[in-house]
Amino acid sequence: MLERCAKRPGWKTQKRAMKQYPFPDKGSYRLMQMDHPDIPVRILTAVRDSRWLWDTMGPIYNERIFDAIGELYNDVVRNLHVSGPARILDAGAGRGYISLMLAANNPQAMITGIDYSSMQVRAAKKFLAQRKIINCAFFTDNVMNLRFQDTLFDAAVSIGSIKHWPDGPRGLKEIHRVLKPGGQLVVSETDREVSDEALWKFIRRFRVWFIPNRLLFWGLRHVIFGQSYSERTLKACVEQAGFRDIECRRVADCPYVIVSAKR
Ligand SMILES: C[S@@+](CC[C@H](N)C(=O)[O-])C[C@H]1O[C@@H](n2cnc3c(N)ncnc32)[C@H](O)[C@@H]1O
Repeated sequence: MLERCAKRPGWKTQKRAMKQYPFPDKGSYRLMQMDHPDIPVRILTAVRDSRWLWDTMGPIYNERIFDAIGELYNDVVRNLHVSGPARILDAGAGRGYISLMLAANNPQAMITGIDYSSMQVRAAKKFLAQRKIINCAFFTDNVMNLRFQDTLFDAAVSIGSIKHWPDGPRGLKEIHRVLKPGGQLVVSETDREVSDEALWKFIRRFRVWFIPNRLLFWGLRHVIFGQSYSERTLKACVEQAGFRDIECRRVADCPYVIVSAKR
């Protein structure tokens, strides 16, 4: 990924930056740490991105965390402009919240949610059966190598998934391939430049009483948000994949970056 290929700075450079920015939150020292994570953060990031984590821990995310980003889902659904019998792809659909919202909002459209975790797909199918929605289907598939033919979809969304992909631009190129010319992409991810204050505010919405707050904050700061995208890097990634008319927006109180573009 873009931010993972730079060379790690020597300890002298780090010390100089620390002196220059005594308050790591405000200076570039913290960002430098994010670019060049220490070994524990690297190991935890690899765990974060592994399929078995989603196979085993997916239910915790699905039941206790997803509703902290309700405003983001609403914003994406409102801002996806499709009409009639359009085909919409949800890449990294998880339990399929946004797929089902899109299906309910666009009754003539057909929504296809894919996820590389078969347990997440099983949870999505169960959720789908409970909601009795017919214009939506879920499949196990990897965004890095999608099973679909070229130019099949009219629009694609991906929420909170791209940071887990081994190569963001390559995954987006796959989405570009399966989108029709002029098709819309909306991709959203945790903002790696979130302030500590906004992160604490966000944490208060989680229902994970069994994880101490300080540990949760550390994990989010360094592993989930710290090893994620900023507005600049997500835009660059979308551009690199060949999309045009790229726009960025944000939702109040939700520390995610949202990028919209056209194929
Ligand atoms: C944080 S969850 C978000 C799920 C869903 N979009 C939501 O908003 O509730 C990230 C999801 O991306 C999936 N994922 C990660 N890497 C993937 C890949 N290479 N291909 C497909 N899905 C992937 C994970 O299995 C997980 O379900």
